[in-house]
Amino acid sequence: MCGIVAYLGHKDAQPILVEGLKRLEYRGYDSAGIALLSSSGFRVHKTTGRMNGLEQSLPVDNCDEILGIGHTRWATHGKPTEANAHPHMDFSGKISIVHNGIIENYSTLKKWLQSKGYEFSSETDSEVVANLIGYFFNTENEFDNTTCQSENKFEWSVQQALSELVGTYGLAIMCSDYPDMLIGAKKGSPLILGVGENEFVIASDASAIVEHTTRAIYLSDNEMVTIKGNNFHTKTIDNIQITKTLKDIEFSLEAIELDTYEHYMQKEIAEQPTAIETCLKGRVDIANTRVVLGGLQDQLRDLARTKRIILTGCGTAWHAGLVGEFLFEQIARIPAEVEYASEFRYRNPIIEDGTIVIAISQSGETADTLAAIEHAKERGATVLGMVNVVGSTIARTTDAGVYLRVGPEIGVASTKAFTAQVAVLTMLAIELGRRRHLSYDLSAELLTGLSQLPDKIASVLKQQEHIKQIAKANIDKENWLFLGRGVNYPVALEGALKLKEISYIHAEGLPAAEMKHGPIALITNNMPAVFIATKSSQYNKVIGNIEEVRARGGRTIVIATEGDENIKQYADHLITVPDVTEQLQPIVTVIPLQMLAYHAAVLRGHDVDKPRNLAKSVTVE
Ligand code: M6R
Repeated sequence: MCGIVAYLGHKDAQPILVEGLKRLEYRGYDSAGIALLSSSGFRVHKTTGRMNGLEQSLPVDNCDEILGIGHTRWATHGKPTEANAHPHMDFSGKISIVHNGIIENYSTLKKWLQSKGYEFSSETDSEVVANLIGYFFNTENEFDNTTCQSENKFEWSVQQALSELVGTYGLAIMCSDYPDMLIGAKKGSPLILGVGENEFVIASDASAIVEHTTRAIYLSDNEMVTIKGNNFHTKTIDNIQITKTLKDIEFSLEAIELDTYEHYMQKEIAEQPTAIETCLKGRVDIANTRVVLGGLQDQLRDLARTKRIILTGCGTAWHAGLVGEFLFEQIARIPAEVEYASEFRYRNPIIEDGTIVIAISQSGETADTLAAIEHAKERGATVLGMVNVVGSTIARTTDAGVYLRVGPEIGVASTKAFTAQVAVLTMLAIELGRRRHLSYDLSAELLTGLSQLPDKIASVLKQQEHIKQIAKANIDKENWLFLGRGVNYPVALEGALKLKEISYIHAEGLPAAEMKHGPIALITNNMPAVFIATKSSQYNKVIGNIEEVRARGGRTIVIATEGDENIKQYADHLITVPDVTEQLQPIVTVIPLQMLAYHAAVLRGHDVDKPRNLAKSVTVE
């Protein structure tokens, strides 16, 4: 979390930083700030809250600096105050930094610097980095450029400071004695260097770069870049020169524009028919009853024979993994289990020979998921990625993988990434099943069913107004239950998560049958119970669970299959979805739940795309 951007070139840096930070704001919006540097020194502006506040406070005249750094914060150490907002300066006022990540040994370093007379003006771990660089920069006689290979004392000081840090960082750093120089460094947090015509943009992700150039270098951990004037060089942080390859950024500006929509979440929900179509394109081969997953072609043989699949991810990606567990077992008959990435490495997991781990992530930057991947790799597992963001850290860290291909997802609440994650898991389960025992008929039915999903999603989206009215009728309710069985149980969890994170309504997702083991005590007519009761092998059981709620005066919102007349008697509110083979239902049944959450949040007047306390990609553990 936190977004950083930096510019060195020949244009005014201020508007470039402002635009960049607006694009990165999804990574955190507790505070924002920029620092600009010219030969007359620093100009720093900070504010608590959103970027538009910062933008309004900025001067418009005499802003001709060509070098600057900017930051949008998701608070970890210290409240979202102006003092804690980045950029941070060192004690001498010569060094200015923006930081994304967590410095785990900041407290020890802070005490040590304080013992040397350094004073701190924030509660952040990041200010320690500024002061540590300042310490090396301002200490006499430490830097000897006859023996030291660093280009200059600024670069050397950065290297010295980085070697003391434990934790993660994406950093952009300026020094007032070097007003034509910018340094970036990376460990554990993403950092990209955009290389334009005599101009450079460093940023946490490509969205802040693509307006200026489509050529970029993706820094790896423990690497840094020093830009001086029109030139740059890359090194490891221990000063070994490295050559990095310039890559094309596969990202279009149109894909991150709001278009005619009010919110990114609304746009991303609406995009799902095309997003899923793109995700399936060229992969579902109905004519030959098979699935073609280019990125996994070399792995499929081993995968089909694996003894166990472990799926891991966080939040919505974990819910997709839970659907995957069901699909791998049901369709491919391979034992599978889903693990919270944040818990995985702390429980000494058993990874036998032949276990394959699948990491699921929209952003490809989630720190907990990355930590789980590293742990699995240390234990000898093959790790595959299912990632949306091309070139992201998880995409690069895994042994092989499949991209979701749904384009940028900007709204904090994940929507189209979930349906695509489930679509990719379904394709993989079918292909593995086909290579094992799955009948030709069921393979063909599932593949045809998959290819029909875009149209079926589109037909659910037409119920916009109806779903909005259901949200309106229940908008004063503070507690909701979401209930489903089998493959629709993860959908119930996902529906509850969506409602919680953007409307701040308390919601719980449960396997419908679990309700009677405790949560049923909560049922009153003040607690809407959302049931997924589509035609499936457990349909009658779910009806039984609905009866139990109604018998206790509960109000029901029921997601049912089109044409199901019987269900009407059980629903206070009914939403129908087209008939879909049971294993494929999550991709359709989740749509009305996304829409319910969206409308509830809008009706409550919340900032749908930037819910409080959250950030889109969680790059801290
Ligand atoms: O980028 P990732 O898919 O790795 O992110 C994982 C979760 O942080 C994410 O799904 C989160 O739960 C969403 N905000 C849910 O809508």
